[in-house]
Amino acid sequence: MEIVAFGVQADERPLLEKAFDGHHQVRCLDVFLNRDTAPIAHGYEVVSTSVNADLSAEVLQTLAAGGTKMVAQRSTGFNNIDLEAAADLGLTIGRVSSYSPYAVAEFAWALALAVNRRLVRAANRTRNFDFRLDGLLGRDLRGRTAGVVGTGRIGEAFTRIAHGFGMNLLGWDLAENPECVALGMRYVPRERLFAEADLITLHVPLVEDTRHLVDAAALAAMKDDAILINSSRGGLVDTAALVETLKAGRLTGVGLDVYEEEAGLFYFDRSLDVIDDDTLARLMTFANVLVTSHQAYFTEEAVGQIIETTVANVEDHLAGRTSEHMLVTRGQLPSAAR
Ligand SMILES: NC(=O)c1ccc[n+]([C@@H]2O[C@H](COP(=O)([O-])OP(=O)(O)OC[C@H]3O[C@@H](n4cnc5c(N)ncnc54)[C@H](O)[C@@H]3O)[C@@H](O)[C@H]2O)c1
Repeated sequence: MEIVAFGVQADERPLLEKAFDGHHQVRCLDVFLNRDTAPIAHGYEVVSTSVNADLSAEVLQTLAAGGTKMVAQRSTGFNNIDLEAAADLGLTIGRVSSYSPYAVAEFAWALALAVNRRLVRAANRTRNFDFRLDGLLGRDLRGRTAGVVGTGRIGEAFTRIAHGFGMNLLGWDLAENPECVALGMRYVPRERLFAEADLITLHVPLVEDTRHLVDAAALAAMKDDAILINSSRGGLVDTAALVETLKAGRLTGVGLDVYEEEAGLFYFDRSLDVIDDDTLARLMTFANVLVTSHQAYFTEEAVGQIIETTVANVEDHLAGRTSEHMLVTRGQLPSAAR
């Protein structure tokens, strides 16, 4: 059988082709799935999509009308998928429920260290043989407080590294993670975490309850010299409120691997275009803000595991099986999701 895979990164393509070799043929496309590209999937029973694919009801209807029975999403988050619509259309939706949490946790740390120690500014300067230290003053993290919002797999991996740095640990989650408690984490109300942490990192999924979790009130509660890192989903942060906070000269640094309006921007070369997103454009003007293009997951290990699970998901679908990676199985949502 031939599968069509949308949004395949150049580095990912040989890994994807190798993984499906001997199982199925895979047609790799660098375009992302959306309402314009959905007709390409006509006639393909299995369609694989990547983060930022548009899997709204409209796109799912186009896929189903073209004969698609399964969507194999190559990511964990599924805030981009209309599961109810998929169920109503009788589709199967697979995702990768977990893979190397270290990829994302280590990247969140890379952002945290880079903004704390002004690494990008420093590197840009030395490239121009400007060896001054003006404006590069950072802070020791040892003895400061890390606030981990969401202490699941990635939050726990982040916490282990924070523990290694000798930081005090505050956590907020629906459920306490005993591994984090064993490292000395104290679970506190969200407001207290925002008020007391020097470094705040977000690792909850984007759901209705967590949308704009970092809003104007949360930003106002943060220490003036706090660092904010978001490597989860852009919609967790009210970016307009963040811009106002930065304009007021607050926050030492912000590292964002995700942005609420990233679809259509991230993963594309837009360097020659007029950028009409004023919020993002303003965000980029702050010297203490570092934005990356949703790359936290992009390690050999994580991409390898994502692909391995995607192949298994396709095989499960073809054999009529379900698994913990299936969000919808032949139109059936797990009862908790309804
Ligand atoms: N930037 C990237 O490349 C990238 C890659 C992978 C995952 N992610 C994001 O990271 C998120 C976390 O991934 P994970 O593997 O650690 O997931 P996980 O399921 O192991 O952990 C999520 C944690 O959030 C908590 N949580 C869920 N809903 C909550 C709510 N409403 N309020 C408070 N806490 C809540 C859960 O209890 C859990 O402990 C994903 O949902 C995804 O959005 C980003």
